Amino acid sequence: MDRLDSKIALVLSKLDKQALEERSNKNNLSKEEMMLSITHDTGLFLNILLIANKAKRILEVGTSAGYSTLWFADAIIYNYGHNNGTKAITTIESNPTKVTRARRNFVEAGVDDMIEIVEGNALHKLKTLFNFHNQMNFSQKKEEFDFIFFDADKENLIKYFDIVIPFVRIGGILVADNALFPDEYRAVMAKYLAHIKKAKNIRSVTLPIGNGEELSIKLG
Ligand SMILES: C[S@@+](CC[C@H](N)C(=O)[O-])C[C@H]1O[C@@H](n2cnc3c(N)ncnc32)[C@H](O)[C@@H]1O
Repeated sequence: MDRLDSKIALVLSKLDKQALEERSNKNNLSKEEMMLSITHDTGLFLNILLIANKAKRILEVGTSAGYSTLWFADAIIYNYGHNNGTKAITTIESNPTKVTRARRNFVEAGVDDMIEIVEGNALHKLKTLFNFHNQMNFSQKKEEFDFIFFDADKENLIKYFDIVIPFVRIGGILVADNALFPDEYRAVMAKYLAHIKKAKNIRSVTLPIGNGEELSIKLG
């Protein structure tokens, strides 16, 4: 297999070990302390998708310790190299302890210069980020995202989708984690799926990988 960026690979393998222990409940951690990261397979799948889609600008909702973010950073480096401190990835996290952990992992992986961590409540932060762009003069080009990953609270998922969708480029991808598991999210995810099925120019499929990934493309 073609290798990941060596520094990123080291941090991912450390986090893979932590995730395994977490899943086998060895550490008796509270939900607040757990990483609750995507699975290794999911990370690899998203990494391949981002490389193929030539994603340059990525938004993530729900950073935790930065495991998924590191898979995204590797795809950017594979396609474009380290791009002089340009923030290719914006990731939102409300838990300050997790922000500190993620920042430490990004520094250790040598990618802190390409990741902007926005600390705070995602709904509030998304409204602020995107209202700013909405108010921009129309002659200015609004920022467009190639890839959006939803992996925070599920209750506001539909709101997150509605806020960000105008800022996804045509051919851009949205992925929502936990489309299939755990059971506690089943009802709220069903509402999200019904919502996006009604959305104009969105094509979507549920993939049985990890906890189930809802993969959607914006077609127009
Ligand atoms: C499932 S974890 C994210 C895992 C991460 N994407 C990964 O795969 O490594 C969800 C994260 O979302 C954060 N979160 C939950 N609700 C949030 C909200 N309303 N705003 C911002 N972050 C939130 C939690 O603190 C938690 O760290």
